[in-house]
Amino acid sequence: MNSTGAGSAETTAVSASSALDTAAVLAKQFLAGLSRRPVHATATVPELRKRLGQTLGEEGLPPETVVTELASAAEPGLVASAGPRYFGFVIGGSHPAAVGADWLTSAWDQNAGLSATSPAAAVVEEVAAAWLLDLLGLPRGAGVGFVTGAQMANFVGLCAGRHAVLERVGWNVEDDGLHGSPRVEVVVGEEVHVTILSALRMLGLGSGRARRVAVDAQGRMRPDDLARVLRACTGPTLVCAQAGNVNTGAFDPLDEIAALAHERGAWLHVDGAFGLWAGVSPDLRHHLTGVALADSWATDAHKWLNVPYDCGVAIVADPAAQRAALTARASYLVQTEGAERDPFEWVPEFSRRARGFTVYAALRSLGRRGVAEMIERACHLARRMAEKLGIPGFGS
Ligand SMILES: Cc1ncc(COP(=O)(O)O)c(C=O)c1O
Repeated sequence: MNSTGAGSAETTAVSASSALDTAAVLAKQFLAGLSRRPVHATATVPELRKRLGQTLGEEGLPPETVVTELASAAEPGLVASAGPRYFGFVIGGSHPAAVGADWLTSAWDQNAGLSATSPAAAVVEEVAAAWLLDLLGLPRGAGVGFVTGAQMANFVGLCAGRHAVLERVGWNVEDDGLHGSPRVEVVVGEEVHVTILSALRMLGLGSGRARRVAVDAQGRMRPDDLARVLRACTGPTLVCAQAGNVNTGAFDPLDEIAALAHERGAWLHVDGAFGLWAGVSPDLRHHLTGVALADSWATDAHKWLNVPYDCGVAIVADPAAQRAALTARASYLVQTEGAERDPFEWVPEFSRRARGFTVYAALRSLGRRGVAEMIERACHLARRMAEKLGIPGFGS
């Protein structure tokens, strides 16, 4: 299984080495030109299909040739989103330490599913998880899973919530599914991010059945309307709040929402794909007042922490709920029952990339102060841009 099918071990090692040397040169060239190259792709999709879509040869090619030709053919189709002149969507760049760690992650090729398949990956995730909880001001001891992005982090939070609210009414959703289960009410703001709706679909809760709460002009959930909507929810309930609206950056009033949700015995999930990072800054933290009162949170490391794609983080206050919702058992698995941390127990994936290495590297390289300064600098620059654009509603 671990053979590349390319001859002797010596030949394979030499090929890997020259492919990596080639990749390193090309990657460094790309990064050196990132701030000057066109931000957008310069080739059209049909042009790229032509450049990249050769017939698959009967015989293979030397690895370094493949890497060189791939880089050359893909080049005009690359977007300079990791560079300083890209302002589309909510897309992060990549910190040098995290890129270095990402290269090693590929070279090491660890399966981060089990502690047994990579003790180093498991321990690094454990350490990075504790650092993240501390930095973001979330409860120590919460469960943490490293996933592809906020989409899957939202899925994990709501999956744990679905488990917990149904368990409270005596229903085991993991064993019995949703057929005949008590109805789970879901409450979202009018400006809920689309990935929450996708998560609801994947969880069998239905995006169309979610009850919508009115929002203010910046897209913040209105607590008075949440109180009205919650009065109509009679069964197990999940409330989805947002820390950082993708259109305006606005934060839902989390303290008021937490009080209302918990008064009703509801589970509160916070989608903080980028906004949760405001928690690292003493100047910005007030936007997140009450955040620690939630039951689960989703955030991204590939946005504001600037680790390379992909890396999201799912956090659940009650680790037992997260593990119950996501763990699996098989006779061939060496499971440690908590003595060691098996990363697969906290996420929907089984085998997966060791994402903790990049998060660990970025956090160590920036330090607590560096993370806060990075977030504050981005907000300062955003405000400056808003002022210069002079568009009402921006920067407020
Ligand atoms: C508020 C919010 N939630 C979720 C997401 C989805 O994140 P990802 O693309 O990492 O899955 C985004 C992406 O911008 C977002 O802004």
